[in-house]
Amino acid sequence: MHSTISSSTLHLGDRPVRRMGYGAMQLAGRGVFGPPKDRDGALSVLRAAVEAGVNHIDTSDYYGPHVTNHLIREALAPYPDDLVIVTKVGARRGDDASWNPAFSPEDLTAAVHDNLRHLGLDVLDVVNLRSMFSAHGPAEGSIEAPLTVLADLQRQGLIRHIGLSNMTPTQVREGQGICPIVCVQNHYNVAHRGDDALIDALAAAGVAYVPFFPLGGFSRLQHSRLDGVASRLGVTPMQTALAWLLHRSPNIALIPGTASLAHLQENLAAADLWLGPDDLSELDAIGGPTGGSIGA
Ligand SMILES: NC(=O)c1ccc[n+]([C@@H]2O[C@H](COP(=O)([O-])OP(=O)(O)OC[C@H]3O[C@@H](n4cnc5c(N)ncnc54)[C@H](OP(=O)(O)O)[C@@H]3O)[C@@H](O)[C@H]2O)c1
Repeated sequence: MHSTISSSTLHLGDRPVRRMGYGAMQLAGRGVFGPPKDRDGALSVLRAAVEAGVNHIDTSDYYGPHVTNHLIREALAPYPDDLVIVTKVGARRGDDASWNPAFSPEDLTAAVHDNLRHLGLDVLDVVNLRSMFSAHGPAEGSIEAPLTVLADLQRQGLIRHIGLSNMTPTQVREGQGICPIVCVQNHYNVAHRGDDALIDALAAAGVAYVPFFPLGGFSRLQHSRLDGVASRLGVTPMQTALAWLLHRSPNIALIPGTASLAHLQENLAAADLWLGPDDLSELDAIGGPTGGSIGA
């Protein structure tokens, strides 16, 4: 017998969260810029997620910018006591929707205050420092200066816990030497397996790993093996991809993004999906460090 994943939790610092959470990025307009196409729909998705038991929502003030934080506040404030809202700092949007680094002490301090104001909070549960050394993924470079700024804001009581995002293993080790790191949020899914060793090291250290693009992000996962396992189990390929992540390691917490109520329900149901050894070995064979043999 296996234990049901839906009731299982892990900790982000001292805050317990269910392993199936929700990522709010997809609620902003096209290109994560501007207002949503369907504002009422976006508010409904957020409320439905929390009503279904989601207590971990991922956001950033640079989604929109400000759009997802405003939606979260409108839909959910006053917030349930157990809700953990995780945000990110380190980037700024240009007027042309570009994503630009914002790593100076002034930028980071302003970003923390903007998140507090737009979410309507006195303290942020978790703030991820999001590296922007390269537009294409993690790239080496010291994070000492920006992380020290966040650690100072934590000492001032504005941040409860600190995480890292889009970081290399070297940067994670550097960060852990500067302040306690409660989670790492990097690009990872059944096809994009570059962080396998990092996930295992973080699990051994009791640090949560939160994969972004769990369903492939802007290029949805497609693979004949994913389809095959899903059809054998009578579920969808996206549910199978989420269940694989939950089985991959007990320190993984999920934040799949959707603006669709139907997809939200489908994703939440994946928390109860059990994969057997044959399913797992078939799915394991999909991945590679940079995306394996994934299509589209
Ligand atoms: N730290 C970082 O640098 C970083 C970067 C990217 C994202 N993130 C965070 O990670 C979260 C998750 O990433 P993501 O939303 O970009 O990518 P994702 O969860 O991999 O995929 C979202 C896409 O999949 C679709 N989708 C969701 N559920 C589906 C289902 N059951 N069936 C079919 N399609 C489905 C969504 O479209 P529909 O709306 O039509 O369902 C959306 O286009 C974000 O919300 C954000 O909070 C962080």
